[in-house]
Amino acid sequence: MKSKLFTIGIILFCLRPNAQVSSNMPRLVKTGNYVQLLVENKPFLVLGGELGNSSASSNEYMRPVWPTLKQMNLNTVIAPVYWELVEPIEGRFNFSLVDTLLRNARLNKMKLVLLWFGAWKNSMSCYTPAWVKLNSTRFPRILDKTGNPHEILTPFNKNNLEADSKAFVKLMEHIKQVDGKQNTVIIVQVENEIGMLPDARTYDEAANAAFSQPVPAALISFLEKNKDRLLPEIKSAWEKNGYKTSGNWETVFGKGLSTDEIFMSWYYAVFTNELAVAGKAAYNLPMYVNAALNRPGRKPGEYPSAGPLPHIMDIWKAGAPAVDLLAPDFYNPDFKHWCDLYTRGGNPLFIPEIRFENGIDAKAFFAFGNYNCLAFSPFSIESTEHPEKEPIGKAYNILKQVSHLITTYQPAGAVNGFLLEKDSLAKEITTGSYRITVNHEYKLGWAAGAKDDNWPLAGGIIISVAPDEFYVAGTGIVITFASAMTNKKAGFISIDEGKFENQRWIPRRRMNGDQDHQGRHVRIPGKEYSIQHVKLYTY
Ligand code: DGJ
Repeated sequence: MKSKLFTIGIILFCLRPNAQVSSNMPRLVKTGNYVQLLVENKPFLVLGGELGNSSASSNEYMRPVWPTLKQMNLNTVIAPVYWELVEPIEGRFNFSLVDTLLRNARLNKMKLVLLWFGAWKNSMSCYTPAWVKLNSTRFPRILDKTGNPHEILTPFNKNNLEADSKAFVKLMEHIKQVDGKQNTVIIVQVENEIGMLPDARTYDEAANAAFSQPVPAALISFLEKNKDRLLPEIKSAWEKNGYKTSGNWETVFGKGLSTDEIFMSWYYAVFTNELAVAGKAAYNLPMYVNAALNRPGRKPGEYPSAGPLPHIMDIWKAGAPAVDLLAPDFYNPDFKHWCDLYTRGGNPLFIPEIRFENGIDAKAFFAFGNYNCLAFSPFSIESTEHPEKEPIGKAYNILKQVSHLITTYQPAGAVNGFLLEKDSLAKEITTGSYRITVNHEYKLGWAAGAKDDNWPLAGGIIISVAPDEFYVAGTGIVITFASAMTNKKAGFISIDEGKFENQRWIPRRRMNGDQDHQGRHVRIPGKEYSIQHVKLYTY
């Protein structure tokens, strides 16, 4: 009897970790060509904000932050977990900051994305614990060309990987234990803005040895298998050197800074992949890496190099298959340009950071409507003094209501997003039997602000839910509908402004007369945010 109880005890003990994990774990799934993030088994759009770097290191500091986030209608907070604070003494872990984040996120009905500030943060290794920093023999750093060390752990060292990975695994085990059932944490970022400075690669002994070795077979085989699908940057480097399938880095990719960066990015990717594999084995959440975008015109080494940047996305894909997506941090102009680059090769757009500035409300509409974006998140989101007035909060209020429509209709290609500035040409789309033209509202000429030198960015989404029926959401746009058939014209049966409550449409104002220019257009004035339900007919 005793031994039977013992056996049952063992079985229960073995089952325990699994029992802690819910069957509806957050996960990425492919629907048609679209990747969706499922949270509680439903497609989820992260209407997020990333905390300033030091905010989550103090519960007291965070206390007044939560109501601010709530006022801006965030459904997700992106927050760092600091290696130096979770493992201040080697092997002794303290997750109390994570636990408090979890508690407060749940109280405020928000999800969490956790950022692992481990070996690397904005290229540097500033978040490594003192016991790592103080022992550079055991935890070696990168060396620049002249042999000078910098506070960046080298990826060419097992101790660095082991120490970082042990701590990361402990974090994932802890999340599983305290959150495996509730799934407050939905996705994890591995490291932060990995990047090499001040040269394009490190010159430590192990790195120099690896540089003269043949390009690893895993990378060669990825290149061969994906030859026709490679992005132009890597393909052309390989092509220029005759598509060689053996030889060292300079033989395969040519001599120069670009090859140094490719080499370095492979080893960063492989290191990060090991972390992601180990972390997922502990608790299988989706994982991503983020990049500090390079300034055009600068050479590798002059910008944080070798991170998951557009021109080396293929190397990251090859070296880090356990990393689910590569994410851009937006502090550069040309939003569309970078979004286009990051959505190549089926990489889903996930924006963990964008400068908290004017125009992000319009960009959020565009990102979700045009790119099947999974996440949008201004950086240092708590830094506002007037959360109730923030345009991004107002945009999130609208996006929250139409999220279910976006995720339902996007896989069928029935969602379009727009971003318009003063010089933008009208955007035209044809959907079903209608030709739709979207303009900046100020193009009307008589709109308040139209005579100003600077026009605010305007953005919106059109969701086609039936042949003659659309929902329009956004700010600062004017839309006309024409029949796609030459012998017909289009008219409005009705335009209603309203809201969704629990996915149920509640019409409020009937928009006619001046609001639709007596049946000529749909208009959402600048600085206003609304959803309008449009029914059309042709005659
Ligand atoms: C990008 C980094 O990822 C953030 O952690 C922060 O340092 C911001 N830059 C500051 O602009």
